[in-house]
Amino acid sequence: MWLPCRCTSKTIVTSYARRVFKSYFCVFGRWKCDVAALMPEAVGFEGVKDCSSLQEFSVSNSASFWAAAARHRLSWIKPFHTVQDCDLSLGRIKWFEGGQLNVSVNCLDRHVDTCPERVALIWERDEPGSEIKAAPGDDMSPRKPVETAWREKGDCVTIYMPPCPLAVASMLACARIGAAHNVSSTVITVNQGVRAGKVTELKRTVDAAVKDCPSVQQVLVAMRTENPVTMTAKDMDMEEEMLKEDVVCEPEAMDSEDVLFLLYTSGSTGKPKGVVHTQAGYLLYAALTHRYVFSYQDGDVFGCVADIGWITGHSYSVYGPLANGGTTVLFESTPIYPDPGRYWEMVQRLKINQFYGAPTAIRLLLKYGDQWVQKYDRSTLKTLGSVGEPINTEAWEWYHRVVGDGRCPVVDTWWQTETGGICITPRPSDPEIVPGMAMRPFFGIKPVLMDTEGKVVTSNPASGALCLAQPWPGMARTIHNNHERFIETYCQPHPGYFFTGDGAYRSKEGYYQITGRLDDVINVSGHRIGTAEIEDVVNQCSAVAESAVIGYSHDIKGQGVYTFVVLKKDADDQEADLSQQLNNMVSKNIAKYACPDFIQFVQRLPKTRSGKIMRRVLRKVVERDLDGLGDLSTLDDPAAVQEIIQGHRKLC
Ligand code: WTA
Repeated sequence: MWLPCRCTSKTIVTSYARRVFKSYFCVFGRWKCDVAALMPEAVGFEGVKDCSSLQEFSVSNSASFWAAAARHRLSWIKPFHTVQDCDLSLGRIKWFEGGQLNVSVNCLDRHVDTCPERVALIWERDEPGSEIKAAPGDDMSPRKPVETAWREKGDCVTIYMPPCPLAVASMLACARIGAAHNVSSTVITVNQGVRAGKVTELKRTVDAAVKDCPSVQQVLVAMRTENPVTMTAKDMDMEEEMLKEDVVCEPEAMDSEDVLFLLYTSGSTGKPKGVVHTQAGYLLYAALTHRYVFSYQDGDVFGCVADIGWITGHSYSVYGPLANGGTTVLFESTPIYPDPGRYWEMVQRLKINQFYGAPTAIRLLLKYGDQWVQKYDRSTLKTLGSVGEPINTEAWEWYHRVVGDGRCPVVDTWWQTETGGICITPRPSDPEIVPGMAMRPFFGIKPVLMDTEGKVVTSNPASGALCLAQPWPGMARTIHNNHERFIETYCQPHPGYFFTGDGAYRSKEGYYQITGRLDDVINVSGHRIGTAEIEDVVNQCSAVAESAVIGYSHDIKGQGVYTFVVLKKDADDQEADLSQQLNNMVSKNIAKYACPDFIQFVQRLPKTRSGKIMRRVLRKVVERDLDGLGDLSTLDDPAAVQEIIQGHRKLC
């Protein structure tokens, strides 16, 4: 090796090491001491030397932190004058007021100008090897439909489509013209969906829904398959309509706090909530978390396999990666189609650098064995992410050891539809990642645990109700048409804090682990469902007097659905037929994943004297923890429990 003679070998070694170290760890996001490399806009923040002091700064100087990030990361039409105007106790949350921007410009135009050849979307279609890549200049890219789509600001559009470029195009088209996507006068759908080789009749579902929705004036239908569908008077061929439009569509200047989209999600009552996200804060938070949680570098291929209809797909298949000028994969298939090697064959073929999926799929795949993973080259992978539900240690270890060959950090990311983006997560740069723990708050996030008396727990280790102590730009602003419910659900349980509905444990080192919901919401294969929603549907059956749904621990799905049903007096002899009928009803009204795994018909449910169903008792019976049944003295009729125990033994 050639060495310049004036240097001592020590300087050579250290400077060379520094260069290698810096370039290597910059690529992998592990260079912790160089703030400029980590986050250019943080240079000059007082006292910030490294990642952990940056974290402290982002919480204690939240306005300066977010203002710098917003200026650096987003392109504004008009700069904001007020960074934040928030009062969590009143449910008032406003960020970047006075500012105007357009989300589609941030996700598309500004990157088209700098990098027109870059592939923005990779549509990984159901059949492996049939992917379609879309660069911003291509016909398949969102640009064309965006520029040719609809032009009424304030219009509302429901998008009911599988993951595909036209779905992304539709989302960005809405953003371009200032239409919130979800509640609607317009619906956009496809004729049929294709998943795991099976066709689903999406258009038929829309037809049935539109019959009950007089507000819907038009339905745009794109063709995913070649099979024609019956078109009604309201239906229009989407691609034909796009061709009729002018190709230039000026972006609407949107206020920071204008609505970007609504997503319906479950709460503890029977009625799903329309969670509202707005323009600037949401986009900034999605972009920043995408960049830092996964150590996303320019040129990387980001593979989030969530459905784009879920918040995970919104933030990490669409808005986050596109705002960062990245390449994102839209995954149309399932983890085991055509075989359990699908994800890893895709990783090899598309050279995916960050893979983001749900624990339920990991648990399923680990049962098929390591050979399905090892068959494929996964050397491009740098970060592995997990989302939607707790990941058990066995699944975490397997993901890390087998999928990531022990070399890729696994980030267990905790967040919710309401938080807009990831809030608690390890970062690849962290010195230590503990399996199954969400670990540390993201920039600007301050978690606290509340005890049963509503006081903040300060000691470690501790458990309690997880709240977030200060607002952040990505948080939901309200519930559509019901701000009261927003305040009641998130702001009132612990005034001054955002209540998440989850319980958490904090270790003596201060690391967080999410322990699960504190309310009657269950999580089946990563899908969040209110037990009351399922009960609502079951109770609609004319033979049913009442029902109670609980979640129970399930090997693969995380939680399964267990339903207790009390029939009306004259309906007792129809049990077998009824199970099928109830399953069909739940599948049709909610989704297949919400269908009960078990239906136990009982004479009565255990209730308190005031008539409240004692779910705690039902849970213990199903968990077979009869010693843990606890105090039954408040039960109206203790015999009900014995009956239920016997019925449960027969069924399972
Ligand atoms: C649960 C999904 C444990 C949690 C992004 C939360 C998790 C609900 C994790 C939100 C995780 C999500 N560990 N639990 N890493 N991520 N959850 O709105 O109970 O569909 O409240 O958003 O999922 O589900 P949602």
